[in-house]
Amino acid sequence: MSTINIAIDGPAGAGKSTIAKTVSAEMGYIYVDTGALYRAVALYITENNIPDSDIGESLRHADISLKFIDGVQRVYSGDRDVSELIRTPEISMAASRTSAIPAVREYLFGLQQKIARENNVIMDGRDIGTVVLPNADVKIYLTASPEERADRRYRELAEKGDCPPYEDILKDIIQRDYQDMHRETAPLKQAEDAVLVDSTNLTLEQVVKKITEIIREKI
Ligand code: DC
Repeated sequence: MSTINIAIDGPAGAGKSTIAKTVSAEMGYIYVDTGALYRAVALYITENNIPDSDIGESLRHADISLKFIDGVQRVYSGDRDVSELIRTPEISMAASRTSAIPAVREYLFGLQQKIARENNVIMDGRDIGTVVLPNADVKIYLTASPEERADRRYRELAEKGDCPPYEDILKDIIQRDYQDMHRETAPLKQAEDAVLVDSTNLTLEQVVKKITEIIREKI
């Protein structure tokens, strides 16, 4: 029996993970956050001080994996759960940089495809609809203006009481967009057959509704 695969791509901070989590819980699908895999690889490279020229070779000894505990994704590096460690601004930037290296993308490619082959998934990332799952049943490209994404991130961090200036957040977002869209291998772009959803002026509930409708129409 073949599985159902839904791809959600888009830039950092567009709300992919919040939306995909909500929709996958409603549908009983597994939510796969592929950015976490790139972050775990970036952490591995950073912690082990691996120069770019050695990354391909050293990844042969890396053991990055995902586990789903009660439907919730945890990321492992060997037998260490790194799900929280990978969420720093430093690792965000390192992941954006190292994800441009073809050896890193090759390393994670098969793992993502295997998960999608074995499970009904909503998979979010940058190249899911274009490269990883070109035959996905539904493809969505979710975006929002950089200012709106920075504003959402600012409010999220301010709630936790640890907030860099808004301008710094916006600068990081613009830099990451540029890096993710302009790399040679699997750059961030909308797949030709993806449905564009711009969440700039929409509430979370409106986006969830819209995306649920798109999915129901197609499957
Ligand atoms: O979604 P995120 O912010 O956690 O992703 C971190 C970085 O990983 C992002 O800047 C680009 C990279 N990434 C990628 O190249 N391809 C993916 N499918 C997912 C993430």
